[in-house]
Amino acid sequence: MTSNRSVGSFSLVIFGATGDLAKRKLFPALFSLYKREQLPEDFQVIGIGRSIRNVGDFHQAVKDSVHSFGRIKAENEEEWSRFIRHFQFVTSSVDDPAGYQQMKTLIDEKEKAWQGAGNGNRLFYLAIAPDLYGTVSSHLKESGLTRTNGWKRIIIEKPIGHDYESAKQLNEQIKKAFTEEEIYRIDHYLGKEMVQNIEVLRFANSLFEPIWNHQYIESVQITASETVGVEQRAGYYDQAGALRDMVQNHMLQMLMMVCMEPPSRLKTEAIHDEKIKVLRSLRRYDQEEVGKYFVRAQYQEGVMGEKPVPAYREEKGIDPRSMTETFVAAKLFVDNLRWAGVPFYIRTGKRMTEKVTQIVIQFKEMPRIYFNKQNNLRPNLLVISIHPEESVKLVLNAKEAGSDHQIVPVALEFCHNCEQRSPEAYESLIYDAIVGDQTFFTHWEEVALSWKFIDPVHQAWTQEQDSLHFYKSGTWGPQAAHDLLAEEGHHWWPPILQNDPQVVTAGELKTT
Ligand code: BG6
Repeated sequence: MTSNRSVGSFSLVIFGATGDLAKRKLFPALFSLYKREQLPEDFQVIGIGRSIRNVGDFHQAVKDSVHSFGRIKAENEEEWSRFIRHFQFVTSSVDDPAGYQQMKTLIDEKEKAWQGAGNGNRLFYLAIAPDLYGTVSSHLKESGLTRTNGWKRIIIEKPIGHDYESAKQLNEQIKKAFTEEEIYRIDHYLGKEMVQNIEVLRFANSLFEPIWNHQYIESVQITASETVGVEQRAGYYDQAGALRDMVQNHMLQMLMMVCMEPPSRLKTEAIHDEKIKVLRSLRRYDQEEVGKYFVRAQYQEGVMGEKPVPAYREEKGIDPRSMTETFVAAKLFVDNLRWAGVPFYIRTGKRMTEKVTQIVIQFKEMPRIYFNKQNNLRPNLLVISIHPEESVKLVLNAKEAGSDHQIVPVALEFCHNCEQRSPEAYESLIYDAIVGDQTFFTHWEEVALSWKFIDPVHQAWTQEQDSLHFYKSGTWGPQAAHDLLAEEGHHWWPPILQNDPQVVTAGELKTT
């Protein structure tokens, strides 16, 4: 997010303004943008929902949300009133044409009052269930809300379908009212500071590009582990599973950022083109091969932070015979000249040891000469930490001070959020949508190709009821996920965080 892009006046309509996403993410993000002076003087936010009856209650809900979840809070009542006067509310369901007419009246009035450039800019945020995207899009069109002299844009959230066919259908419905350039598909991982930093690291340093290929890189690991369980989302999650909840979107997005070729220009279209090419080169597995390259597993009971936690099948709302995976590990290959033969290991799961998002680039080993005659030197690593730390570490071998050639791993490091909290992903993404920058949003082609890659895996699992592994809550996943790497002589690197006195050893790998 840069702050020097010009922002004209705009109306933002939030469908689902009384829901969880608006409360936890959208309102706090809007307030932070306001405080950082990234919103114009003239803007309005219109919330749509059924459970709030008047604008006063809406203002209170926004206030509570910023108070509980905001990174930046209001300093005093006066500042808060200056912010909240931009907020309006329409009590309506999403399929009631009268609600759209009320919205239109509010928007028309404001646009008339605003003088100057940018009049007529409209952003529609669909923080609602995806099966309503089609209904809302057609109402927006029929009500005339999408006819404007300014720009119009729509923001949608995942899940975009549950397979390629359903995603395509959803896309076609939205496209009746918006063009591809007007559709902003959020993958909130693309709003994270360190995910955005991958392209800067790669393309603003002369150091990495010459070695960013199969000749120097031994393997790449991408981990997104969580400690939470299914929480209140049983209905959605038991249908989706980790493959469709995390791999189809966030994990493949991180993989694309690491693998893409340098774009012809630093422009949205050029960057999307390169990311799409990665998905085209991603080796597809047919159903028979899935068992060899993918591990799926489900959490069992265990202890997290000294508290006992139930097994997935005992969670509220989950079928006691559920075969849904809460963990996925996979070995992927990008079959192009740059990455030929390099395994990309990905793993993600709930109820794991720690909440960590990390990319580890493991470089090739030293030849077995000099200090490595016994083959006991650790490989160099480039560790990109996305959560909880936002940092980059280059792990090298160095002589331990005062020792007689005792070699220890040391890390050169840079940390983004160790001193202060970085902007939340939603701040960055909402701002980009307002200024019309689609770079960190997902192009339809990315969605389509990701589903085409994921669908056979899901189909294989639906048919093969016995390939589900289990892992104890609070661990790094099932043994099968470790075996997946061991067969190549690799192992998962544990989280490598700041102030690790000594960096990492394979021996530290915890499997229980
Ligand atoms: C969401 C998934 O997209 O990402 C959740 O639906 C998951 O299941 C979440 O918990 C993880 O996001 P983050 O930013 O906390 O790593």
